[in-house]
Amino acid sequence: MIVITGASSGLGAALAQHYSAAGDEVCLVGRDSQRLTQLSESLPGKAQWHSVDLTCESQVAALFDSLPTTPTTLLHCAGSGLFGAFEQHSEAQIRQLLDNNVLTAALLLKQVVSRYRDTSMQVGVVMSTAALKAKANEVAYCGAKWAVRGMVESLRAELKASPLRLVGIYPGGMDTGFWQHDDSRDYLDASVFMSADDAAAMVVQGLAACDRGFISDITISRG
Ligand SMILES: NC(=O)c1ccc[n+]([C@@H]2O[C@H](COP(=O)([O-])OP(=O)(O)OC[C@H]3O[C@@H](n4cnc5c(N)ncnc54)[C@H](OP(=O)(O)O)[C@@H]3O)[C@@H](O)[C@H]2O)c1
Repeated sequence: MIVITGASSGLGAALAQHYSAAGDEVCLVGRDSQRLTQLSESLPGKAQWHSVDLTCESQVAALFDSLPTTPTTLLHCAGSGLFGAFEQHSEAQIRQLLDNNVLTAALLLKQVVSRYRDTSMQVGVVMSTAALKAKANEVAYCGAKWAVRGMVESLRAELKASPLRLVGIYPGGMDTGFWQHDDSRDYLDASVFMSADDAAAMVVQGLAACDRGFISDITISRG
């Protein structure tokens, strides 16, 4: 079973479609029940979905308690953005950004390590090229994604002798609902970005290649 967070839209939904078409059972995680239902009903293969706010530790733990089998792969795509002039962001916006990106990754990874440290399993954490380089107009977002990268890389060092493999995934811009929020619309034209489907195909290929070794990081640059 492949567990995918952020599966109710964008990259997560595209990954679910790729894995389901290849015959894998998928477990879709997001908050929007309506979109999760629609996606699970449209997939060719076996699918279950869970509406979970990943910023809530008890909900994250309950998600793992409810899984019928140990996942072979877990892909953490959930996240959100915040762009434009840093000094204009409100405290609430900054908190929400940090919660959706940093706290979700921390709570998820905590469950993963405590349950599956000795299990052969792939865990891909989607960050962004914003976790690799500084970008103007993305101050808070870069900060959040760099924080996630710090956790992933430190945890990987801690898991050196473990069969649990942590893969860092760093996509460039994708044309998804991510950019439809008020603070992002004026900031750039996402229609020139790659599609979530194209990015998902490259992630799936990269993770499959890990079977023949360990690709620790997948960076997908925009052409
Ligand atoms: N789009 C880009 O250009 C781009 C580029 C590089 C990296 N990324 C990263 O790629 C990942 C996926 O982005 P996307 O473009 O697919 O965005 P998206 O279409 O906006 O999807 C974001 C997903 O995250 C889920 N989510 C957010 N906060 C959550 C929370 N607290 N609990 C549970 N689920 C939560 C959303 O669930 P609900 O809608 O159900 O609430 C949604 O399924 C994100 O981490 C993003 O930072 C995006």
